[in-house]
Amino acid sequence: MSHINSSMTIRTFQKYIFSWWKLNKRDLPWRHTHDPYKIFISEIMLQQTQVERVIAKYHEFLSRFPRATILAQAPLSGVLIAWKGLGYNRRALFARKAAVEIVKQYDGVFPRNPTQLMKLPGIGVYTSKAICVFAYQMDLPLVDTNIRKIITHFFYNDVIQNEKEIEKKALELLPKGKSWEWHQALMDFGALELPSLVPKTARGKGKIPFKDTNRFIRGKIIDVLREGSFPENELLVILSDLTKRDEETLVKNLQSLIKEGLVSIRNGKYGLGT
Ligand code: ADE
Repeated sequence: MSHINSSMTIRTFQKYIFSWWKLNKRDLPWRHTHDPYKIFISEIMLQQTQVERVIAKYHEFLSRFPRATILAQAPLSGVLIAWKGLGYNRRALFARKAAVEIVKQYDGVFPRNPTQLMKLPGIGVYTSKAICVFAYQMDLPLVDTNIRKIITHFFYNDVIQNEKEIEKKALELLPKGKSWEWHQALMDFGALELPSLVPKTARGKGKIPFKDTNRFIRGKIIDVLREGSFPENELLVILSDLTKRDEETLVKNLQSLIKEGLVSIRNGKYGLGT
């Protein structure tokens, strides 16, 4: 396709994206529903996990916890087990906390505006707007990493802009009344087309290798505790074998997981939080 530069008009850009989408749209499970709970779960899962991996877990998770009321009552250990394979286990904890609040404050029915949604645990600016766009089809501009890159590429010649400028442009670009389709199209364009348009500058450069991060250690701890509960000495032996890290590091990570409620101690044994 011929290249389109920053002089293009809003109408041209909208047409370009929609005609691209007609030929390239993906059939993703969360596009078959307007249930805010299901959209919420998909958005939380998609935050740090690849689409392919989310597709597999989305159905499984929702068949175990089909509604906010059910997720709210489930023990955290069961939720963490269903979350296995997605990583970033704190998201599972927040999802359940949000469900508890939705039952408590809203009788199990998701609120319909971003301000109320944003007050819920784990729901930030992006997720609250994503629920409003994908569940309630509101004309709100969504800006995630890929959408920011798309706008920067087509309207600012790949020169990084401040957040206000991007948001202003995102609002101008939004075809009113077609917010749902528009954002799904941008998501697909961002995933499938963007990598070939935007030069991959220093990708991965200066990043800490995954195995050296606390996230790696935390993930291993949760993996072990999914299998059962263990006294501290046993757990530390298992973990030092799995992670090759010293006791101090392991204990520090265990303590933060306890503080966050992901791990708990019962009868002298470490287990998943309840
Ligand atoms: N990432 C976040 N939301 C998405 C969606 N609706 N489709 C594809 N990827 C996404």
